[in-house]
Amino acid sequence: MTDWIASLQSLRDRALGELADAQDMRQLDEWRVQYLGKKSDLTQISRQMGQLPAEERPVLGEHVNQVRSVLQDALTKKQEALHAAELERRFAAETIDVTAPGRRKPRGSMHPLTQIIEEIVEIFVAMGYEVAEGPEVETDEYNFEKLNLPKHHPARDMQDTFYLTESLLLRTQTSPMQVRTMERMRPNVPVKVIAPGKVYRRDEDDATHSHMFHQIEGLVVGEGIRMSDLKGTLELFARSVFGADQTVRLRPSFFPFTEPSAELDIRCTNCGGSGCRMCKDTGWLEILGCGMVHPRVLDGAGYDSRRFSGFAFGMGPERIAMLKYGIEDIRLLYQNDLRLLRQFHRVL
Ligand code: DAH
Repeated sequence: MTDWIASLQSLRDRALGELADAQDMRQLDEWRVQYLGKKSDLTQISRQMGQLPAEERPVLGEHVNQVRSVLQDALTKKQEALHAAELERRFAAETIDVTAPGRRKPRGSMHPLTQIIEEIVEIFVAMGYEVAEGPEVETDEYNFEKLNLPKHHPARDMQDTFYLTESLLLRTQTSPMQVRTMERMRPNVPVKVIAPGKVYRRDEDDATHSHMFHQIEGLVVGEGIRMSDLKGTLELFARSVFGADQTVRLRPSFFPFTEPSAELDIRCTNCGGSGCRMCKDTGWLEILGCGMVHPRVLDGAGYDSRRFSGFAFGMGPERIAMLKYGIEDIRLLYQNDLRLLRQFHRVL
């Protein structure tokens, strides 16, 4: 009997010692199986109690129960302690230092070309124009035929075209939007649209050429629209983009879809008109093509040219951006070099 009690005590001390060393829930579980499980020494001892004389059994039984409850309590305490420690660790790891300085995210901004296109479109929207967009994959008919450029017309050579099929192509200009707009609006007047978009030409890329670039087309159709309306509109436009003191001139030119046709020049932004390398000593810089809509184009799109007239213009925003900001190579606008883009960073 005393032996039994002694071995119970040493069992308890060993168990409590090991429990103190346990580091995690898994070790606790192993410990529980070993000391409180069905095959534990404690359970063995209870089973063997039957061998003892009847009067000794309750005495030993009480000892066994006591050890069991000590171990059970110790286990519960240890579980709680481990759990608390685990929580503590998690809280420490998840602590947010609200006084730490923030991490700045690099801020993007609109591409200078997008900026200038939006700026130009805005100028015309303020004058009551509607914005229109059309397909970059265009038909030969809209890109050429309906703009008074029949097959084998020499002016087609001016624009080397990417053909997709015999009748489909990548538009070489935004001018097909003139016809598309008139066909959509007919018979309403006035027609006042501004149509920005991408155009494509089979050019070798160099400082002044790109196989893809942008154009902004303008078209006004109504009764009694005159060349002076065109000039006044473009003058206002040029002064909005290049400064209120800009001087412009219209210089006669040729386009198949306008008659008469002209090109708009502004005073050289580099030398102010005295002559330099940039304006090739003329004092003027060409910025767009324009003219009175050709009667054949009007009639073809369903507006009787005896009653209606209109003007149209088309410009390249790349060229305008280059002149305005002194960018000398068009390719800079497509390389996305941050050193260039950052100079046009504008807080939106
Ligand atoms: N589409 C012409 C080009 O790409 C530019 C142009 C000239 C557009 C005269 C017009 C215009 O609307 O009237 O060269």
